[in-house]
Amino acid sequence: MTPGEHPSYDAIILGAGAAGLMCAARAGQRGLRVALLERAEKPGKKILISGGGRCNFTNREAGPDNYLSANPHFARSALARYTPADFVALVEKHGIAWHEKTLGQLFCDGSAKQIVQMLIDECPDSVDVICDADVGAVAQEDEAFVVSASGRTYRAPNLVIATGGPSIPKMGASGFAYDLARQFGLKVVEPRPALVPLTLGGEDVLFRELSGVSAPVSASAGKTRFEEAALFTHKGLSGPAILQISSYWRGGEEVGIAFLPQADEDWLIEMKRDRPRATIRSALRDHLPDRLAEALAARLGIERELGNVPDRDLRAAGQKLADWRFRPTGTEGFAKAEVTIGGISTAELSSKTMEAKKVPGLFAIGEAVDVTGWLGGYNFQWAWASGVAAAESLSC
Ligand code: FDA
Repeated sequence: MTPGEHPSYDAIILGAGAAGLMCAARAGQRGLRVALLERAEKPGKKILISGGGRCNFTNREAGPDNYLSANPHFARSALARYTPADFVALVEKHGIAWHEKTLGQLFCDGSAKQIVQMLIDECPDSVDVICDADVGAVAQEDEAFVVSASGRTYRAPNLVIATGGPSIPKMGASGFAYDLARQFGLKVVEPRPALVPLTLGGEDVLFRELSGVSAPVSASAGKTRFEEAALFTHKGLSGPAILQISSYWRGGEEVGIAFLPQADEDWLIEMKRDRPRATIRSALRDHLPDRLAEALAARLGIERELGNVPDRDLRAAGQKLADWRFRPTGTEGFAKAEVTIGGISTAELSSKTMEAKKVPGLFAIGEAVDVTGWLGGYNFQWAWASGVAAAESLSC
Protein backbone atom coordinates (compact mmCIF):
# COMPACT_ATOMS: atom_id res chain seq x y z
CA MET A 1 0.00 0.00 0.00
CA THR A 2 1.39 3.45 -0.92
CA PRO A 3 1.04 6.37 1.55
CA GLY A 4 -2.49 7.79 1.47
CA GLU A 5 -3.88 4.51 0.14
CA HIS A 6 -6.66 2.86 2.09
CA PRO A 7 -7.05 -0.85 2.79
CA SER A 8 -8.78 -2.74 0.03
CA TYR A 9 -12.53 -2.68 -0.15
CA ASP A 10 -14.99 -4.98 -1.89
CA ALA A 11 -16.84 -2.00 -3.30
CA ILE A 12 -16.40 1.73 -3.66
CA ILE A 13 -19.61 3.71 -3.93
CA LEU A 14 -19.29 7.25 -5.29
CA GLY A 15 -21.83 9.64 -3.73
CA ALA A 16 -23.60 9.35 -0.37
CA GLY A 17 -26.98 10.52 -1.61
CA ALA A 18 -30.17 8.50 -1.47
CA ALA A 19 -29.04 5.77 -3.85
CA GLY A 20 -25.46 5.53 -2.55
CA LEU A 21 -26.50 5.34 1.11
CA MET A 22 -29.06 2.63 0.43
CA CYS A 23 -26.62 0.65 -1.71
CA ALA A 24 -23.86 0.93 0.93
CA ALA A 25 -26.17 -0.20 3.73
CA ARG A 26 -27.44 -3.24 1.85
CA ALA A 27 -24.00 -4.21 0.55
CA GLY A 28 -22.58 -3.86 4.06
CA GLN A 29 -25.35 -6.07 5.42
CA ARG A 30 -24.24 -8.73 2.92
CA GLY A 31 -20.83 -8.60 4.58
CA LEU A 32 -19.07 -6.52 1.93
CA ARG A 33 -16.44 -4.01 2.94
CA VAL A 34 -17.57 -0.73 1.43
CA ALA A 35 -16.06 2.74 1.03
CA LEU A 36 -18.84 5.29 0.50
CA LEU A 37 -17.16 8.46 -0.77
CA GLU A 38 -18.99 11.79 -0.53
CA ARG A 39 -17.75 15.14 -1.77
CA ALA A 40 -19.85 17.19 0.69
CA GLU A 41 -19.16 17.55 4.40
CA LYS A 42 -22.13 15.34 5.25
CA PRO A 43 -24.20 12.66 3.52
CA GLY A 44 -27.68 12.97 2.06
CA LYS A 45 -27.89 16.72 1.50
CA LYS A 46 -30.65 16.46 -1.12
CA ILE A 47 -32.63 14.21 1.18
CA LEU A 48 -32.39 16.89 3.87
CA ILE A 49 -33.95 19.60 1.68
CA SER A 50 -36.50 17.29 0.07
CA GLY A 51 -40.23 17.54 0.57
CA GLY A 52 -39.88 20.94 2.24
CA GLY A 53 -37.66 19.35 4.92
CA ARG A 54 -40.02 16.41 5.55
CA CYS A 55 -38.81 14.16 2.71
CA ASN A 56 -41.46 12.70 0.46
CA PHE A 57 -39.61 9.40 0.76
CA THR A 58 -41.75 7.26 -1.52
CA ASN A 59 -45.07 6.99 -3.29
CA ARG A 60 -47.48 4.20 -2.50
CA GLU A 61 -48.38 3.89 -6.19
CA ALA A 62 -44.83 3.87 -7.60
CA GLY A 63 -44.61 1.61 -10.66
CA PRO A 64 -42.77 1.67 -13.98
CA ASP A 65 -45.45 3.85 -15.61
CA ASN A 66 -44.43 6.73 -13.33
CA TYR A 67 -40.95 6.97 -14.83
CA LEU A 68 -39.47 8.44 -18.01
CA SER A 69 -36.59 6.72 -19.74
CA ALA A 70 -35.47 5.91 -23.27
CA ASN A 71 -36.37 2.34 -22.21
CA PRO A 72 -39.65 2.58 -20.29
CA HIS A 73 -39.32 -1.06 -19.14
CA PHE A 74 -35.88 -0.67 -17.60
CA ALA A 75 -37.05 0.31 -14.10
CA ARG A 76 -39.57 -2.55 -13.86
CA SER A 77 -37.33 -5.23 -12.37
CA ALA A 78 -35.69 -3.15 -9.63
CA LEU A 79 -38.98 -1.47 -8.67
CA ALA A 80 -40.70 -4.85 -8.38
CA ARG A 81 -37.98 -6.25 -6.14
CA TYR A 82 -37.83 -3.29 -3.74
CA THR A 83 -41.25 -1.74 -3.34
CA PRO A 84 -42.67 1.30 -1.52
CA ALA A 85 -43.97 -1.14 1.13
CA ASP A 86 -40.40 -2.35 1.71
CA PHE A 87 -39.23 1.19 2.36
CA VAL A 88 -42.20 1.91 4.63
CA ALA A 89 -41.29 -1.23 6.60
CA LEU A 90 -37.76 0.12 7.02
CA VAL A 91 -39.05 3.52 8.15
CA GLU A 92 -41.32 1.82 10.68
CA LYS A 93 -38.52 -0.44 11.92
CA HIS A 94 -36.69 2.77 12.85
CA GLY A 95 -39.77 4.19 14.62
CA ILE A 96 -40.09 7.11 12.19
CA ALA A 97 -43.63 8.51 12.13
CA TRP A 98 -45.01 9.23 8.67
CA HIS A 99 -48.20 10.27 6.93
CA GLU A 100 -49.75 10.18 3.49
CA LYS A 101 -50.28 13.68 2.17
CA THR A 102 -52.02 13.32 -1.17
CA LEU A 103 -51.85 11.16 -4.31
CA GLY A 104 -49.98 8.39 -2.47
CA GLN A 105 -47.14 10.70 -1.36
CA LEU A 106 -45.58 9.58 1.95
CA PHE A 107 -43.75 12.09 4.16
CA CYS A 108 -42.05 12.06 7.58
CA ASP A 109 -44.15 13.63 10.32
CA GLY A 110 -40.93 15.04 11.75
CA SER A 111 -37.87 15.77 9.66
CA ALA A 112 -35.96 14.51 6.62
CA LYS A 113 -32.97 14.22 8.98
CA GLN A 114 -34.60 11.04 10.30
CA ILE A 115 -34.32 9.39 6.88
CA VAL A 116 -30.63 10.25 6.54
CA GLN A 117 -29.96 9.02 10.08
CA MET A 118 -31.90 5.83 9.36
CA LEU A 119 -29.76 5.10 6.29
CA ILE A 120 -26.56 5.76 8.22
CA ASP A 121 -27.76 3.53 11.07
CA GLU A 122 -28.47 0.79 8.53
CA CYS A 123 -24.79 0.79 7.54
CA PRO A 124 -22.88 -1.84 9.53
CA ASP A 125 -19.25 -1.37 10.65
CA SER A 126 -18.00 -2.80 7.36
CA VAL A 127 -19.13 0.44 5.64
CA ASP A 128 -16.85 3.47 5.88
CA VAL A 129 -18.83 6.65 5.16
CA ILE A 130 -16.10 9.08 4.11
CA CYS A 131 -17.15 12.73 3.65
CA ASP A 132 -15.10 15.60 2.20
CA ALA A 133 -13.91 13.05 -0.36
CA ASP A 134 -14.18 14.75 -3.74
CA VAL A 135 -13.68 12.03 -6.30
CA GLY A 136 -11.44 13.09 -9.17
CA ALA A 137 -9.65 10.44 -11.17
CA VAL A 138 -10.85 6.87 -11.54
CA ALA A 139 -8.70 4.24 -13.20
CA GLN A 140 -8.75 0.48 -13.73
CA GLU A 141 -5.66 -1.55 -12.76
CA ASP A 142 -5.40 -5.33 -12.51
CA GLU A 143 -9.19 -5.82 -12.52
CA ALA A 144 -9.60 -3.30 -9.70
CA PHE A 145 -10.99 0.23 -9.79
CA VAL A 146 -8.62 2.79 -8.31
CA VAL A 147 -10.27 5.98 -7.12
CA SER A 148 -8.52 9.19 -6.09
CA ALA A 149 -10.50 11.45 -3.79
CA SER A 150 -9.16 14.49 -1.95
CA GLY A 151 -5.58 13.19 -1.94
CA ARG A 152 -6.37 9.60 -0.98
CA THR A 153 -6.60 6.45 -3.04
CA TYR A 154 -9.16 3.67 -2.73
CA ARG A 155 -9.15 0.33 -4.52
CA ALA A 156 -11.90 -2.25 -5.07
CA PRO A 157 -13.15 -4.74 -7.67
CA ASN A 158 -16.61 -3.09 -7.70
CA LEU A 159 -17.37 0.56 -8.38
CA VAL A 160 -20.84 2.08 -8.08
CA ILE A 161 -21.58 5.46 -9.66
CA ALA A 162 -24.18 7.15 -7.43
CA THR A 163 -23.22 10.79 -7.89
CA GLY A 164 -26.64 11.92 -9.12
CA GLY A 165 -27.39 14.45 -11.86
CA PRO A 166 -26.61 18.14 -12.37
CA SER A 167 -29.83 19.57 -10.90
CA ILE A 168 -29.20 22.28 -8.25
CA PRO A 169 -25.51 22.98 -9.02
CA LYS A 170 -25.25 25.33 -6.05
CA MET A 171 -25.43 22.18 -3.90
CA GLY A 172 -22.41 20.81 -5.75
CA ALA A 173 -24.41 18.75 -8.26
CA SER A 174 -22.59 18.20 -11.54
CA GLY A 175 -22.34 15.97 -14.58
CA PHE A 176 -19.54 13.96 -12.95
CA ALA A 177 -21.43 10.68 -13.37
CA TYR A 178 -21.72 11.23 -17.12
CA ASP A 179 -18.02 12.05 -17.55
CA LEU A 180 -17.10 8.91 -15.67
CA ALA A 181 -19.53 6.79 -17.66
CA ARG A 182 -18.11 8.13 -20.92
CA GLN A 183 -14.59 7.41 -19.68
CA PHE A 184 -15.62 3.74 -19.52
CA GLY A 185 -17.24 3.87 -22.95
CA LEU A 186 -20.87 4.04 -21.75
CA LYS A 187 -23.34 6.18 -23.69
CA VAL A 188 -25.20 9.03 -22.00
CA VAL A 189 -28.70 10.15 -22.99
CA GLU A 190 -28.58 13.94 -23.26
CA PRO A 191 -29.46 15.35 -19.85
CA ARG A 192 -32.01 18.12 -19.46
CA PRO A 193 -33.76 19.72 -16.51
CA ALA A 194 -37.02 18.12 -15.32
CA LEU A 195 -39.61 18.87 -12.65
CA VAL A 196 -38.73 22.47 -13.40
CA PRO A 197 -40.71 25.74 -13.72
CA LEU A 198 -41.42 26.96 -17.27
CA THR A 199 -40.73 30.51 -18.43
CA LEU A 200 -43.13 32.65 -20.43
CA GLY A 201 -42.47 35.49 -22.89
CA GLY A 202 -44.20 37.19 -25.82
CA GLU A 203 -47.95 37.71 -25.28
CA ASP A 204 -47.96 35.19 -22.45
CA VAL A 205 -45.71 37.48 -20.45
CA LEU A 206 -48.87 39.28 -19.37
CA PHE A 207 -49.70 36.27 -17.20
CA ARG A 208 -46.69 37.14 -15.07
CA GLU A 209 -48.92 39.85 -13.53
CA LEU A 210 -50.56 36.93 -11.74
CA SER A 211 -47.37 36.05 -9.87
CA GLY A 212 -48.32 34.18 -6.68
CA VAL A 213 -51.77 33.06 -7.90
CA SER A 214 -52.39 29.32 -7.86
CA ALA A 215 -55.32 27.19 -9.03
CA PRO A 216 -56.14 23.53 -9.54
CA VAL A 217 -55.85 22.89 -13.28
CA SER A 218 -55.22 20.13 -15.75
CA ALA A 219 -51.95 20.74 -17.62
CA SER A 220 -50.98 18.88 -20.78
CA ALA A 221 -48.01 18.46 -23.08
CA GLY A 222 -48.65 16.24 -26.07
CA LYS A 223 -50.79 13.35 -24.88
CA THR A 224 -49.71 13.58 -21.23
CA ARG A 225 -51.92 15.34 -18.71
CA PHE A 226 -51.67 16.04 -14.97
CA GLU A 227 -54.42 17.37 -12.73
CA GLU A 228 -52.83 19.30 -9.90
CA ALA A 229 -52.22 22.92 -8.93
CA ALA A 230 -50.50 25.41 -11.23
CA LEU A 231 -48.80 28.52 -9.91
CA PHE A 232 -48.10 31.73 -11.82
CA THR A 233 -44.64 33.13 -11.06
CA HIS A 234 -42.78 36.31 -11.98
CA LYS A 235 -40.98 34.25 -14.64
CA GLY A 236 -43.81 32.07 -15.88
CA LEU A 237 -45.49 28.91 -14.63
CA SER A 238 -44.77 26.53 -11.79
CA GLY A 239 -46.68 24.41 -9.24
CA PRO A 240 -47.01 20.61 -9.24
CA ALA A 241 -49.02 20.34 -12.49
CA ILE A 242 -46.44 22.37 -14.39
CA LEU A 243 -43.44 20.63 -12.80
CA GLN A 244 -44.91 17.28 -13.82
CA ILE A 245 -45.62 18.41 -17.35
CA SER A 246 -42.15 20.00 -17.70
CA SER A 247 -40.67 16.49 -17.82
CA TYR A 248 -42.68 15.76 -20.95
CA TRP A 249 -42.30 19.19 -22.56
CA ARG A 250 -39.76 19.81 -25.30
CA GLY A 251 -38.45 23.26 -26.29
CA GLY A 252 -40.70 25.01 -28.81
CA GLU A 253 -43.82 22.97 -27.96
CA GLU A 254 -47.02 24.32 -26.47
CA VAL A 255 -48.47 23.50 -23.07
CA GLY A 256 -52.25 23.34 -22.62
CA ILE A 257 -54.03 24.31 -19.42
CA ALA A 258 -57.64 23.50 -18.61
CA PHE A 259 -58.58 26.11 -16.03
CA LEU A 260 -61.81 24.34 -15.09
CA PRO A 261 -60.88 20.68 -15.55
CA GLN A 262 -64.25 19.39 -14.36
CA ALA A 263 -66.37 21.66 -16.59
CA ASP A 264 -67.55 20.62 -20.04
CA GLU A 265 -67.04 23.00 -22.95
CA ASP A 266 -70.69 24.14 -22.93
CA TRP A 267 -70.80 25.14 -19.27
CA LEU A 268 -71.12 28.85 -20.18
CA ILE A 269 -74.11 28.07 -22.42
CA GLU A 270 -75.74 26.16 -19.57
CA MET A 271 -75.05 29.10 -17.28
CA LYS A 272 -76.54 31.48 -19.83
CA ARG A 273 -79.83 29.55 -19.50
CA ASP A 274 -79.72 29.55 -15.66
CA ARG A 275 -78.17 32.98 -15.00
CA PRO A 276 -78.50 35.16 -18.13
CA ARG A 277 -77.40 38.28 -16.22
CA ALA A 278 -74.07 36.74 -15.16
CA THR A 279 -70.86 37.66 -17.01
CA ILE A 280 -67.90 35.44 -17.87
CA ARG A 281 -65.97 37.34 -15.22
CA SER A 282 -68.52 36.58 -12.48
CA ALA A 283 -68.88 32.98 -13.70
CA LEU A 284 -65.13 32.44 -13.48
CA ARG A 285 -64.98 34.06 -10.06
CA ASP A 286 -67.25 31.30 -8.75
CA HIS A 287 -64.50 28.78 -9.48
CA LEU A 288 -61.12 30.53 -9.67
CA PRO A 289 -59.11 33.06 -7.63
CA ASP A 290 -60.31 36.61 -8.36
CA ARG A 291 -57.10 37.80 -10.04
CA LEU A 292 -57.03 34.81 -12.36
CA ALA A 293 -60.74 35.13 -13.18
CA GLU A 294 -60.16 38.82 -14.03
CA ALA A 295 -57.16 38.11 -16.25
CA LEU A 296 -58.86 35.28 -18.16
CA ALA A 297 -62.10 37.22 -18.64
CA ALA A 298 -60.17 40.26 -19.91
CA ARG A 299 -58.30 38.11 -22.43
CA LEU A 300 -61.50 36.40 -23.61
CA GLY A 301 -62.80 39.90 -24.38
CA ILE A 302 -66.49 39.17 -23.70
CA GLU A 303 -67.75 41.74 -21.21
CA ARG A 304 -71.52 41.50 -21.89
CA GLU A 305 -74.04 39.57 -19.82
CA LEU A 306 -74.19 35.94 -20.92
CA GLY A 307 -77.82 36.33 -22.05
CA ASN A 308 -76.61 38.74 -24.76
CA VAL A 309 -73.77 36.56 -26.06
CA PRO A 310 -74.37 34.08 -28.92
CA ASP A 311 -73.97 30.42 -27.97
CA ARG A 312 -71.14 29.96 -30.49
CA ASP A 313 -69.06 32.65 -28.75
CA LEU A 314 -69.71 31.03 -25.37
CA ARG A 315 -68.74 27.63 -26.75
CA ALA A 316 -65.52 29.12 -28.16
CA ALA A 317 -64.76 30.72 -24.76
CA GLY A 318 -65.45 27.39 -23.04
CA GLN A 319 -63.11 25.62 -25.46
CA LYS A 320 -60.37 28.18 -24.87
CA LEU A 321 -60.72 27.83 -21.08
CA ALA A 322 -60.54 24.04 -21.47
CA ASP A 323 -57.29 24.18 -23.43
CA TRP A 324 -55.54 27.54 -22.99
CA ARG A 325 -52.35 27.32 -25.01
CA PHE A 326 -49.04 28.67 -23.75
CA ARG A 327 -45.76 28.46 -25.63
CA PRO A 328 -43.07 28.53 -22.92
CA THR A 329 -39.81 30.20 -23.90
CA GLY A 330 -37.86 27.63 -21.87
CA THR A 331 -37.37 26.32 -18.36
CA GLU A 332 -35.67 27.79 -15.31
CA GLY A 333 -32.87 25.29 -15.97
CA PHE A 334 -30.82 23.00 -13.76
CA ALA A 335 -30.62 25.77 -11.14
CA LYS A 336 -34.29 25.15 -10.30
CA ALA A 337 -34.83 21.60 -11.58
CA GLU A 338 -35.72 19.00 -8.97
CA VAL A 339 -34.26 16.24 -11.12
CA THR A 340 -32.50 15.52 -14.41
CA ILE A 341 -33.99 13.65 -17.33
CA GLY A 342 -31.54 11.58 -19.31
CA GLY A 343 -28.25 10.28 -17.97
CA ILE A 344 -26.30 7.05 -18.26
CA SER A 345 -28.05 5.06 -20.97
CA THR A 346 -30.09 2.13 -19.72
CA ALA A 347 -28.98 0.25 -22.85
CA GLU A 348 -25.55 0.01 -21.22
CA LEU A 349 -26.82 -1.52 -17.95
CA SER A 350 -28.45 -4.73 -16.78
CA SER A 351 -31.91 -3.88 -15.47
CA LYS A 352 -31.57 -6.62 -12.85
CA THR A 353 -28.19 -5.66 -11.42
CA MET A 354 -27.43 -2.12 -12.66
CA GLU A 355 -24.04 -3.44 -13.80
CA ALA A 356 -22.52 -2.10 -17.01
CA LYS A 357 -22.79 -4.81 -19.66
CA LYS A 358 -19.35 -4.09 -21.10
CA VAL A 359 -17.47 -3.19 -17.89
CA PRO A 360 -17.82 -5.95 -15.30
CA GLY A 361 -17.77 -4.57 -11.76
CA LEU A 362 -18.98 -1.10 -12.78
CA PHE A 363 -22.51 -0.17 -11.63
CA ALA A 364 -24.68 2.96 -11.91
CA ILE A 365 -27.71 3.78 -9.76
CA GLY A 366 -30.11 6.58 -8.84
CA GLU A 367 -30.49 9.82 -10.72
CA ALA A 368 -27.24 9.30 -12.64
CA VAL A 369 -29.11 6.72 -14.75
CA ASP A 370 -31.60 7.62 -17.49
CA VAL A 371 -34.63 6.90 -15.29
CA THR A 372 -36.62 9.89 -14.02
CA GLY A 373 -39.68 9.74 -11.82
CA TRP A 374 -42.72 11.94 -11.52
CA LEU A 375 -43.00 14.46 -8.72
CA GLY A 376 -44.22 12.90 -5.49
CA GLY A 377 -41.70 10.46 -3.97
CA TYR A 378 -41.06 8.49 -7.15
CA ASN A 379 -37.45 9.62 -7.54
CA PHE A 380 -36.45 8.46 -4.09
CA GLN A 381 -38.19 5.14 -4.71
CA TRP A 382 -36.00 4.70 -7.79
CA ALA A 383 -32.90 5.63 -5.75
CA TRP A 384 -33.78 3.02 -3.08
CA ALA A 385 -34.74 0.31 -5.58
CA SER A 386 -31.77 0.74 -7.90
CA GLY A 387 -29.44 0.96 -4.88
CA VAL A 388 -30.75 -2.34 -3.55
CA ALA A 389 -30.56 -4.01 -6.98
CA ALA A 390 -26.87 -3.11 -7.27
CA ALA A 391 -26.07 -3.99 -3.64
CA GLU A 392 -27.43 -7.50 -4.11
CA SER A 393 -25.28 -8.07 -7.18
CA LEU A 394 -21.90 -6.74 -6.05
CA SER A 395 -19.43 -9.60 -6.07
CA CYS A 396 -17.62 -10.38 -2.81
P1 FDA B 1 -28.07 12.59 -4.99
O1 FDA B 1 -27.95 13.87 -5.75
O2 FDA B 1 -29.04 12.54 -3.88
O3 FDA B 1 -26.66 12.17 -4.40
C1 FDA B 1 -25.48 12.25 -5.15
C2 FDA B 1 -24.35 12.47 -4.16
O4 FDA B 1 -23.11 12.38 -4.85
C3 FDA B 1 -24.40 13.87 -3.54
O5 FDA B 1 -24.35 13.75 -2.14
C4 FDA B 1 -23.16 14.56 -4.11
O6 FDA B 1 -22.58 15.48 -3.21
C5 FDA B 1 -22.24 13.38 -4.37
N1 FDA B 1 -21.22 13.63 -5.39
C6 FDA B 1 -21.41 14.20 -6.61
N2 FDA B 1 -20.23 14.26 -7.26
C7 FDA B 1 -19.30 13.72 -6.45
C8 FDA B 1 -17.90 13.50 -6.56
N3 FDA B 1 -17.20 13.85 -7.66
N4 FDA B 1 -17.24 12.95 -5.52
C9 FDA B 1 -17.93 12.57 -4.38
N5 FDA B 1 -19.25 12.76 -4.24
C10 FDA B 1 -19.93 13.33 -5.26
N6 FDA B 1 -37.44 13.22 -4.73
C11 FDA B 1 -38.43 12.55 -4.09
O7 FDA B 1 -38.67 11.38 -4.40
N7 FDA B 1 -39.14 13.15 -3.09
C12 FDA B 1 -38.90 14.45 -2.70
O8 FDA B 1 -39.50 14.96 -1.75
C13 FDA B 1 -37.90 15.18 -3.42
N8 FDA B 1 -37.67 16.48 -3.13
C14 FDA B 1 -36.65 17.15 -3.76
C15 FDA B 1 -36.43 18.50 -3.47
C16 FDA B 1 -35.41 19.20 -4.11
C17 FDA B 1 -35.19 20.65 -3.81
C18 FDA B 1 -34.57 18.52 -5.04
C19 FDA B 1 -33.43 19.22 -5.71
C20 FDA B 1 -34.81 17.18 -5.35
C21 FDA B 1 -35.86 16.49 -4.73
N9 FDA B 1 -36.14 15.16 -5.04
C22 FDA B 1 -37.15 14.51 -4.40
C23 FDA B 1 -35.30 14.41 -6.01
C24 FDA B 1 -34.29 13.57 -5.22
O9 FDA B 1 -33.61 14.41 -4.30
C25 FDA B 1 -33.29 12.90 -6.15
O10 FDA B 1 -33.97 12.17 -7.14
C26 FDA B 1 -32.39 11.95 -5.36
O11 FDA B 1 -31.69 12.68 -4.38
C27 FDA B 1 -31.40 11.24 -6.26
O12 FDA B 1 -30.59 10.44 -5.45
P2 FDA B 1 -29.12 10.07 -5.90
O13 FDA B 1 -28.52 9.36 -4.73
O14 FDA B 1 -29.11 9.44 -7.21
O15 FDA B 1 -28.39 11.49 -6.09
